[in-house]
Amino acid sequence: MDASKNQQPYLNPDWQHGMQVQYDYNNLMERSFDAESFDKKLAKRVAPITEKEIEAHMPELCRAKSRLDKKLGKPSRMMSWTTLPYHQDKVCGEILKYADTVKAKFENFVVLGIGGSALGPIAVHQALRHLHYNELPADRRGGPKFYVEDNIDPERMNALLDVIDVQKTLFNVITKSGSTSETMAQFLIITEALKKALGEDWGKNIVVTTDKKNGNLIRIAHQYNKNHQSGRIKIFYIPDGVGGRFSELSPVGLLPAAVCSIDIRQMLAGARHMDSLCKNTDLKKNPAYMAGLLMYIAIRKKNKNIQVVMPYADSLKYFADWHAQLWAESLGKKYTIRGREVYAGQTPVKALGVTDQHSQVQLYTEGPFDKVITFIKVGSFRNQCPIPHGFGDIPDVSFLGGHTLNELLGSELAATEYALTKSGKLNQTITLPEVNEFTIGQLMYFFMMQTAVCGELMYIDAFDQPGVEEGKNATYALMGKPGYEDKKRELDSAPSKLDSYIL
Ligand code: PA5
Repeated sequence: MDASKNQQPYLNPDWQHGMQVQYDYNNLMERSFDAESFDKKLAKRVAPITEKEIEAHMPELCRAKSRLDKKLGKPSRMMSWTTLPYHQDKVCGEILKYADTVKAKFENFVVLGIGGSALGPIAVHQALRHLHYNELPADRRGGPKFYVEDNIDPERMNALLDVIDVQKTLFNVITKSGSTSETMAQFLIITEALKKALGEDWGKNIVVTTDKKNGNLIRIAHQYNKNHQSGRIKIFYIPDGVGGRFSELSPVGLLPAAVCSIDIRQMLAGARHMDSLCKNTDLKKNPAYMAGLLMYIAIRKKNKNIQVVMPYADSLKYFADWHAQLWAESLGKKYTIRGREVYAGQTPVKALGVTDQHSQVQLYTEGPFDKVITFIKVGSFRNQCPIPHGFGDIPDVSFLGGHTLNELLGSELAATEYALTKSGKLNQTITLPEVNEFTIGQLMYFFMMQTAVCGELMYIDAFDQPGVEEGKNATYALMGKPGYEDKKRELDSAPSKLDSYIL
């Protein structure tokens, strides 16, 4: 990736040095697969991408770029996430100031949210904080204990209430729409608990991150603040034109990160750096555009309907979850923007190296030729773990001694990449020189831009999610929401299940 063009000012140039995220697509390409080892029928199923195919798609990619460029700066086209790395100096200052007061006052910080309002905070926290953060003593954590409640499992909610003291807890209610049932149900439960503990001042333990104008949450917050001067609900806004799964670099992700002492300015600097790479008009050198095109070809021309995202680092484990939502909800669409039925999409699968080598890799190596494996590799881990010598009389064990877990993990990744390629399975590798705020900002921006590019090539709307509406409406009907009486009748008249099919 050539960063020399379109460079933006960085907050700390030292971070940039040697810290560029790299996208390696060698093993998607014909050259990596030894054609002679596959018979003709098999070679067709391996279906690697050729230089000629890339060349043939270049005009289409250029057209997709002009269409995307035209959407920039128009909030209604939902591309405003691309402005987040640039225009948040003031909001960052406000978040950092507020985060200091939170650190001084609260023992716990709990995010209430779901989907795009939760997966980013989870992924970033796991990547950039201690892997046993909550178990560390307070002075080593750098922030309050951190929980993200992104489900409505009753046992989980009660378990949370068992381990926290609500009086010493700040609840960050995150919802773009301000009306998501799951989040609002959690909010009702927590407000009730806070009212019992704090009385009328319950609002001082709540911070909301939501849309400026729309939704119930902002109405509730304003109404509360009008009547309570002492314990006001703090409010941060999600800017217009930023959808849930593209919102991690807005206050949705910045506040939870800052409260845990993650350097949010460096995350944004990383995103800016990746944006500068993604502005390269030589599209063959533009990482997210190439990555978007290659997945588009893999899906449309090569029948690769599954993408396994497999980080080889526990710190990046939840990046696979964050990516799964981004990829699935953005690209899984029935219609093109012109209303033609396409049933588009590629199923994301989450995996973790090396853990899933002992669970899924057998399938990936010997199973169907229907997937692309995306490895996420870490160049240098933040610490080393030497493997001591021992059991010299048992060579099958003692060969490990004198190496490190770092070397073992690196070798296993290289070996898996080799074995998959040898078996004719398409794979690609994204490398983070190390896991830090700057590289995480780059990685998120890279994936978001790749998703937007792939969606544009598919000619679908990557920023809506009409397919989840039916389920939402049915839930409203079942829960008795006013205005959903017809839907309830529709549900009641659906064919009943046959007892004989239930064993
Ligand atoms: O990407 C999206 O827009 C969705 O997945 C939302 O993030 C999710 O449905 C939660 O919505 P909200 O933030 O409005 O509560």
